[in-house]
Amino acid sequence: MQEQIKTIKETIIKAIHSVTDEAALRELEVRYFGRKGAFNEILKGLATLSDDEKRVVGKMANETKKELEAAIVTQRSKLQSSQLGAIAETEWMDMTVPGTTPRVGHRHLVSRFIDDLESVFGRMGFDVATGPEVEEEHYNFNQLNVPEDHPARDMQDTFWIKNLHKYVLRTQTSPVQIRYMGTRKPPIRVIAPGKTFRKDSDATHSPMFHQVEGLMIDENISMANLKAVLAHALREIFETPSIELRFRASYFPFVEPGLEVDCTCVMCNGKGQTGTRIPCRLCKKSGWLEIAGAGMVHPTVLKNGGVDPERYTGFAFGVGIDRMIMLKYKIPHLRLLFENDLRFLEQF
Ligand code: DAH
Repeated sequence: MQEQIKTIKETIIKAIHSVTDEAALRELEVRYFGRKGAFNEILKGLATLSDDEKRVVGKMANETKKELEAAIVTQRSKLQSSQLGAIAETEWMDMTVPGTTPRVGHRHLVSRFIDDLESVFGRMGFDVATGPEVEEEHYNFNQLNVPEDHPARDMQDTFWIKNLHKYVLRTQTSPVQIRYMGTRKPPIRVIAPGKTFRKDSDATHSPMFHQVEGLMIDENISMANLKAVLAHALREIFETPSIELRFRASYFPFVEPGLEVDCTCVMCNGKGQTGTRIPCRLCKKSGWLEIAGAGMVHPTVLKNGGVDPERYTGFAFGVGIDRMIMLKYKIPHLRLLFENDLRFLEQF
């Protein structure tokens, strides 16, 4: 029997050392040391021995079992650490490699510019109003003193809405004047920035563009107020304190008199040239840039907005936002503002 124990010990030791994963080691444990395991089967033979022999063989069996159990424990920890080693080999990462910085977006140049407009006019006490982009013909034209069939409607190439009778994509922000007047009493000071639409497309025109409308109504408002407000706003917006304005007579049906407003060129400061004898490209040597349509609000328009033209007067203006942005940042093509090329947009 002692021989048997010795033999099985050697077999088990070999088996333990040749096992390559923990599952196989567990299986081996059951096979030899489980209730019906080979080791216990041998021990059953103890019953047939004399008491003296039992003592000797029993002791030997116990010691052998302990040795084997210790061998299993050692082998298990060997397997575990080599498994960790394998994981470390394949699943490591280099904490010193620089990370990829997530790209953070920002507001679009046009939106930021509109924010700036709002704060410049806000400091002069102007409210900000919006109106619908799909506008009723009534507000876009009729109430602004542009009667049906009046040739003034041809000044603007209008997008009409199919299957929606008498609605247009607003061609101007001017209809917001009427809507705003309808909800307030003078004094009124408001700007209305937003999208406008016309059938037009080239380097300086896009079917969708932005305007900002201005409206100020109170007793005794005159063109002097118009000039002061607009000049101050343009000086702030272009960050050019030397800007001067020039009014030219013009025609818009909703104002009388109507004006076109020019400001001194933001590139050459009104000199018409940059440096000695280098003609200014921005203003084409004239020293002036066309910047706004404006005028004194037509009495009919005041009436349409529910304002008493006998008591109140007011000025209005409309400025192309995209054009202002192009002038301020010397952007050569309007399309750059709308095609969402990050190489362009990230510069602002
Ligand atoms: N709405 C005009 C346009 O889009 C611009 C304009 C001119 C607005 C004169 C005004 C104004 O308020 O008084 O061409």
